[in-house]
Amino acid sequence: MRIVMIGTGYVGLVSGTCFADFGHHVTCVDKDKSKIDALLDGRIPIFEPGLDALVESNVAAGRLEFTLDIASVLPEADAVFIAVGTPTRRGDGHADLQYVYAAAEEMAPLLRDGAVVIDKSTVPVGTGDEVERIIAEKCPQLQFSVASNPEFLREGAAIDDFMRPDRVVIGVNDEHAEEVLQEIYRPLTRNDSPILVMSRRAAELTKYAANAFLATKITFINEIADLCEKVGADVHDVAHGIGTDSRIGARFLQPGPGYGGSCFPKDTLALLQTGQQYGAPLQIVGSVVEVNNQRKRAMGEKVIEAMGGDIAGKTVALLGLTFKANTDDMRDSPSIDIARALRDAGITVRAYDPEGMETSKAVIDGLTYCKDSYDAMSGADAAVIVTEWDAFRALDLARAKEMLNQPLLVDLRNLYSRHDVEKQGFRYVAVGR
Ligand SMILES: NC(=O)c1ccc[n+]([C@@H]2O[C@H](COP(=O)([O-])OP(=O)(O)OC[C@H]3O[C@@H](n4cnc5c(N)ncnc54)[C@H](O)[C@@H]3O)[C@@H](O)[C@H]2O)c1
Repeated sequence: MRIVMIGTGYVGLVSGTCFADFGHHVTCVDKDKSKIDALLDGRIPIFEPGLDALVESNVAAGRLEFTLDIASVLPEADAVFIAVGTPTRRGDGHADLQYVYAAAEEMAPLLRDGAVVIDKSTVPVGTGDEVERIIAEKCPQLQFSVASNPEFLREGAAIDDFMRPDRVVIGVNDEHAEEVLQEIYRPLTRNDSPILVMSRRAAELTKYAANAFLATKITFINEIADLCEKVGADVHDVAHGIGTDSRIGARFLQPGPGYGGSCFPKDTLALLQTGQQYGAPLQIVGSVVEVNNQRKRAMGEKVIEAMGGDIAGKTVALLGLTFKANTDDMRDSPSIDIARALRDAGITVRAYDPEGMETSKAVIDGLTYCKDSYDAMSGADAAVIVTEWDAFRALDLARAKEMLNQPLLVDLRNLYSRHDVEKQGFRYVAVGR
């Protein structure tokens, strides 16, 4: 199968590389010259564990290529995936579909008869219809199909998620598109990964419903964590108590500073808009969005309160900036709200993140970037763990105590046990315990 991937970001690069690893011939296209130049030069433009080796081996095997020139590869393609960004449209919360539609316009005159265009980007219900309309309008004689194949990979575990997915969702309105997609994903059936075939609209909505449900689960346990703090219960006991119920499930029940990232914030907003548009308002999702936004803002206050409220001339060490571990992605990270709240309160912020420092510099200004955790803690009045990087799970607390002005650890990811931290002479503030 000859596959073209339009958009070589987190999703396009990982899925394109994995498809090549399945044995397909894949060309990843992007408009961003610096990304394609880096890839042609053997460098990976994003941080994703294991991706460098997989790209290297598939390039060496001649199955994976990169180009800026869509016209040189599209006429040969059996399947064309759209994996461009669908950020929030400024001002109204809708998904901004300009990149999806631009890709459709651009590819239309280059497609061959029988080509299947597959939307992998997260797009609102009905986007496939519009992509189909755009291509048909430009090329009325062309025989083509449009399908939806939403992606569920998680940054930081993307390759494993792609190679061993819980399921693959295929949204098709014709048999040819289904056959092509079944053929593309055939290697996964060896792992018993189910391929769920449904209508294009159902597939488009499945992705949003999944993300909204997960965002709800996180927000639910965060609210329970707040209640635990008030009533003197440990949220981990409660999460374990409910998560062992197979109807509920244990995952996504870790309390923290609120969800962020490249998907949940924008996808919950876009789903709300779809609900409004079709006259089926989604009140639960609306509350989730509101509660999560409040929570991210409240985390700065939690740190200030932990410092006793007296913050004049104080310094905080922020450990972790990315929205979760094992990525360099800063999109909508809770660290942004926390760092701003601290900075606006006049606190000096010394920050360290294993992979997110460069991306962070473009997003938050006014921070002092440090070379490691201990450098960040040097002369600080509190250490605040924002991201659950492994590097922060086993800090040398004796050394940390020497670096800090006062031994205060605010652990927004509950990485430590209170007993262990307090034994080292620290004051320990966690979430929901
Ligand atoms: N990041 C994730 O973890 C994740 C997971 C599941 C689904 N998704 C969805 O996948 C889509 C892509 O997300 P991402 O994080 O990979 O985005 P990204 O911003 O990392 O990458 C998108 C890429 O598309 C390129 N691009 C835009 N228009 C183009 C065009 N016309 N031709 C060629 N290249 C073009 C951009 O230059 C960019 O490199 C989004 O809809 C997102 O919601 C993301």
